[in-house]
Amino acid sequence: MNAEKKIGVIGIGKLGLCFALNAERSGYFVTGVDVSEDYVLSINQKAFRSPEPLVNEYLQEAKNFFASTDLSTALGTDLIFVFVATPALPDGSYNHEQIERIAEQLLSLPKPTSTKHLVIGCTTMPGYCNTLAAKLNPHNYTVSYNPEFIAQGSIIRNQQNPDVILIGEENESVGNAIEELHLSFCQSTPTVHRMDRLSAEIAKLATNCFLTTKISFANSIGDLAIKAGADVTKVLQAVGADSRIGNKYLNYGDGFGGPCFPRDNRALQKFADTVQQPLPLASATDKVNEQHLHFQIQTLLKAHKPDECIEIDGVAYKAGTVFIDESQRLKIALLLAQQNRKVMITDRAEVIAQVQSIYGNLFEYRVK
Ligand SMILES: NC(=O)c1ccc[n+]([C@@H]2O[C@H](COP(=O)([O-])OP(=O)(O)OC[C@H]3O[C@@H](n4cnc5c(N)ncnc54)[C@H](O)[C@@H]3O)[C@@H](O)[C@H]2O)c1
Repeated sequence: MNAEKKIGVIGIGKLGLCFALNAERSGYFVTGVDVSEDYVLSINQKAFRSPEPLVNEYLQEAKNFFASTDLSTALGTDLIFVFVATPALPDGSYNHEQIERIAEQLLSLPKPTSTKHLVIGCTTMPGYCNTLAAKLNPHNYTVSYNPEFIAQGSIIRNQQNPDVILIGEENESVGNAIEELHLSFCQSTPTVHRMDRLSAEIAKLATNCFLTTKISFANSIGDLAIKAGADVTKVLQAVGADSRIGNKYLNYGDGFGGPCFPRDNRALQKFADTVQQPLPLASATDKVNEQHLHFQIQTLLKAHKPDECIEIDGVAYKAGTVFIDESQRLKIALLLAQQNRKVMITDRAEVIAQVQSIYGNLFEYRVK
């Protein structure tokens, strides 16, 4: 492995850009690659503005981060991370087309004289990275898997403070290089889990599946407590105080949503079905999330007169973000409006603009 502290990052979108900036600040020379000329220019001119905390400041201060649309520029280094999108397909599995396109591009270039190490940071279906390795190994590329446990709205801070660093490595030397890079910008004391690619792919999805299960558990016990006339907060605090359980993600509130939890949960179910070892817990978690949504709607209907406008304060999938992907609060607003209830959505202008562009006058809006 090259002793020089240099990495390539292919796909400098929401996640890749944060990763590139964190690496740069910790002393790496970083070459980022993306497809749009305008975007790359705005990065190089430091004109790009992100809603994600710290990105704009870090970009302004970056001295050793350069972006390009030319994939071969990323090959000036031995360690190349990939953060392109892997959208979910209707059957729950992930679409790996963007990674495939990069693989095709790499295979069309001359075979590298020194081994290049590709590290997939995208969320993939378990088994995919092995398939990719079989394709790229003969062309002098290794393939490792190194997913991120981050949430929109705190990506940079989450990358700096992980609980777990998960590495599915092709060999020990590349595993060492990935670990060293993470630890270089890590401010927490994570445990590092190194394993084969398939195990790491399953571990990534299983982590999010467990969290969705915990959220659904808390909400269903909460709904039960409310229905029975008990104190939901006290019930959940007591349950979570048991150190075998823990209070994190055990609060009563909205169901899980956003760009990661629901789709990782479905992807794990899909993978489980594919290997004929079904995972009923994951599908039950989805059903519970849905049931909780209807409980919340009934609660709102009971609290408002039929002609009264119902205000939904905040419809981003998580407070503090501007993303509405699989937002439970937006689903509540939508289901209420479909029942001919007057609904007022209150949120930041950016969020309102997104909702309005999809749903127009279905709701009333108030900018916070
Ligand atoms: N954003 C999150 O909250 C989050 C959390 C955990 C995991 N992930 C995973 O990380 C991956 C990336 O997610 P994201 O949210 O950053 O996606 P994104 O869409 O914001 O960024 C992907 C970037 O890749 C670029 N790209 C596509 N094809 C390319 C190519 N051939 N060459 C170079 N660049 C190319 C796109 O232009 C885009 O800028 C996904 O697999 C996602 O599942 C995302």
